[in-house]
Amino acid sequence: MRDFPNTNVIAPSLLAADFANLKEEIKMVVNSKAKWLHLDIMDGVFVPNISFGMPILVSIQPLCYELFTDVHLMIVQPERYITEFRNLGASMLTVHYEACTHLHRTLQHIKSEGMQAGVALNPHTPVSVLEDILEETDLVCLMSVNPGFGGQKFIENTVEKIKKLRKMIDERQLKTIIEIDGGVNLHNARKLKDAGADVLVAGNCVFGADDPTQMIEDLINA
Ligand code: DX5
Ligand code: ZN
Repeated sequence: MRDFPNTNVIAPSLLAADFANLKEEIKMVVNSKAKWLHLDIMDGVFVPNISFGMPILVSIQPLCYELFTDVHLMIVQPERYITEFRNLGASMLTVHYEACTHLHRTLQHIKSEGMQAGVALNPHTPVSVLEDILEETDLVCLMSVNPGFGGQKFIENTVEKIKKLRKMIDERQLKTIIEIDGGVNLHNARKLKDAGADVLVAGNCVFGADDPTQMIEDLINA
């Protein structure tokens, strides 16, 4: 796999794109300074919404070769589909802590398929639950909204969670990436980076901007 940046990254979330115009939306990301693309998979069970699934990933896969594809699974029993997502080109596969009974096994499985393994935490889940799994985790996605929908308001308590997690990672000298997902914008981007975030997912802030390419650049420079 190519080398992709893993700090000061903006990962546009395709959920906020114009689905009637996906090809152009993805081309915009490819030609921008964003090297990651965030793909939200929702099943209507783990979260109260259904986004998109395998057929869409099949269609967009040829457009995404130059991107690090960051797949965020908001589904129950995500272990059922690990190989399938690998075949669909996922670079990072993130499962929810709250959806995995055997999280250690699931992360091992993801890595054995050649992908990086991420764990997402809902806003109510403390970072301390990662105490015994952090070494196995390539990325922690801190949800800064309740998962299920784009365009929600950022939950401020996330900033403290970032600081705690940053400390846990640095104390153990790990390379685990901290990603923030939900309600990211130009007003909070700097604060999130200062607290220790590496990757900021941005949906509506990017795709809803008059100039999405410029917005990505502004978020990187924030
Ligand atoms: C929410 C998703 C997010 C969402 C972010 O459940 O996980 O990735 O697309 O959208 P914004 O940036 O609009 O909050
Ligand atoms: Zn997401």
